[in-house]
Amino acid sequence: MRKFLIAGNWKMNMGPGDAAKLAQEICTKLSEKSSNEVLVLVCPTALSIPEVVIATEGSRVLTGAQNMHYESSGAFTGEISAEMLLAAGCRYVVLGHSERRHVFGESDELINRKVLSASRKDLIPILCVGETEVDRDQELTFNVIERQLKKGLLKVRHEDLAEMVIAYEPVWAIGTGRTATPEQAQEVHAFIRKYLYERIGKKASLVPLLYGGSVKPANVADLLKQDDIDGALVGGASLNADSFVALVDAAETQNRNRN
Ligand code: PGA
Repeated sequence: MRKFLIAGNWKMNMGPGDAAKLAQEICTKLSEKSSNEVLVLVCPTALSIPEVVIATEGSRVLTGAQNMHYESSGAFTGEISAEMLLAAGCRYVVLGHSERRHVFGESDELINRKVLSASRKDLIPILCVGETEVDRDQELTFNVIERQLKKGLLKVRHEDLAEMVIAYEPVWAIGTGRTATPEQAQEVHAFIRKYLYERIGKKASLVPLLYGGSVKPANVADLLKQDDIDGALVGGASLNADSFVALVDAAETQNRNRN
């Protein structure tokens, strides 16, 4: 059975010192009470990855990156490769986040090259998909999600797809305080699950589907109760140890109820 995953996306916050401090605080608070059944991941800014890896050593907290380049090395000023992230201790990489798509102009084709590169090197991609408010108002949500899945996952091998994570993050809910209702989120998650079934059959049930967009302790339980929501990708509420650990606790409760 797939595991719940609570992932913190720290975005462009906290340099090495602050990031190590927060990581340490999360580890301490988790070890006081938790049961290891839920995967816990933090994705600091690239510069802070080594410090966070050291601060979380020996704990259950995994480290991931927020982006990468698809080539292994070469003349790509300012970029970081999958090999470098793995060497630094990363296990996951967030790809196609809406800020990368909308602020930095990343296309589905570029994101697909990154997904292929990461998954062939055992760095687990968390592919983000999500519609804008205009898309939703025009009833284009499922068209947009389907396009992002088809193009973003083009040529990904069956076995790699079964190991991936997909995050549904409606753009209108990110950093706005507006969360999708649990029913709205479940509807899209079920659509994503169905798409995966069509690609990889029963193994689709192994792929964790995360919801992201203004997730906080007050709304996480209702989201995680949905059949196809297996965790959360969290921005704002992951920058505070208490609220992040509260999300992990909620996932553990839900994990017990699901099994
Ligand atoms: P938010 O960000 O939780 O602050 O809305 C989520 C994300 O961007 O991954």
